[in-house]
Amino acid sequence: MPKEVFGRDHPFLPHGDLLSFEGITRLARLFKPLGVEKIRLTGGEPLLRKNIERLVEMLAALEVELTLTTNGALLARKARALKDAGLKRVSVSLDALDDAVFGAMNDVDFPVAKVLEGIEAAARVGLTPIKINVVVQRSVNAGSILPLARHFRGSGHIVRFIEFMDVGHTNGWRLDEVVPAEEVVRIIDSEMALEPLERNYPGEVAQRWRYRDGSGEIGVISSVTRAFCATCTRARLATDGKLYTCLFATGGHDLRALLRGGADDDTLTRVLRGIWSRRADRYSELRSEATRGLQKIEMSYIGG
Ligand SMILES: C[S@@+](CC[C@H](N)C(=O)[O-])C[C@H]1O[C@@H](n2cnc3c(N)ncnc32)[C@H](O)[C@@H]1O
Ligand code: SF4
Repeated sequence: MPKEVFGRDHPFLPHGDLLSFEGITRLARLFKPLGVEKIRLTGGEPLLRKNIERLVEMLAALEVELTLTTNGALLARKARALKDAGLKRVSVSLDALDDAVFGAMNDVDFPVAKVLEGIEAAARVGLTPIKINVVVQRSVNAGSILPLARHFRGSGHIVRFIEFMDVGHTNGWRLDEVVPAEEVVRIIDSEMALEPLERNYPGEVAQRWRYRDGSGEIGVISSVTRAFCATCTRARLATDGKLYTCLFATGGHDLRALLRGGADDDTLTRVLRGIWSRRADRYSELRSEATRGLQKIEMSYIGG
């Protein structure tokens, strides 16, 4: 959320426009029999939502795999409460170990040390294995690939290098800023020998690699250079109740209107099933000059 776009004067949504925890949990409950096995809380920054622990508790009661992706700023403070509420694991975004590079990537005003503290706190309470998400932008943090790999090797945490994507319009994306996953593997393998691992489950977005000496694993997510639309199973529910069937969607389906209009469970289930079965998204396979001008939803609305 670059400050020049989302500055102090940005008109953020009034609280009344957000889905209530009850609304979110109801939708999650209806999604489950349609095949949803895993729920990830993301954002925006999920730990900024007041009483997020309560939402975690409500979703944990549904007995789905429950995880959360965070920038780590509030994690040290909240890890214990999240664990107690039933959260299983966290992914933490950390694009560099150097404060200047870290700040250049994400425009935030907290130091790397704060994120590392959060990761340690999450590990202490057992929100493990922790995934460390690194988006790689060639001119900004490509030099951080090896330091990050070295730092987390042997820690039990899994660093995942993600190709920089053209989500939304405000991130200044250019193809030559993408560092292909294959190149990331080559860079790490040249210093710390790697070998490929099987996927954990069909549709897993990361390709897994392990250090040959047994000191852990890394993942690479090749969302630009090797699209995985054919096995994509993710639905994204935004905080205002819009359901998006693709990370690069230009519009969503308004579930809040149905919830607030008194739709019963059968109606909602029919709608969810209809939206998902009509879905034909394959943006990453189609990415080209022709898709360049599409008015895509920003990452901060859709969650990654
Ligand atoms: C949008 S963030 C939301 C959750 C939380 N605020 C955080 O920082 O992790 C979710 C994930 O998307 C990643 N991400 C953001 N912009 C991206 C881009 N242009 N390409 C690839 N991944 C991106 C982030 O690094 C993060 O790991
Ligand atoms: S581009 Fe859309 S359909 Fe393809 S993998 Fe990404 S979210 Fe799924």
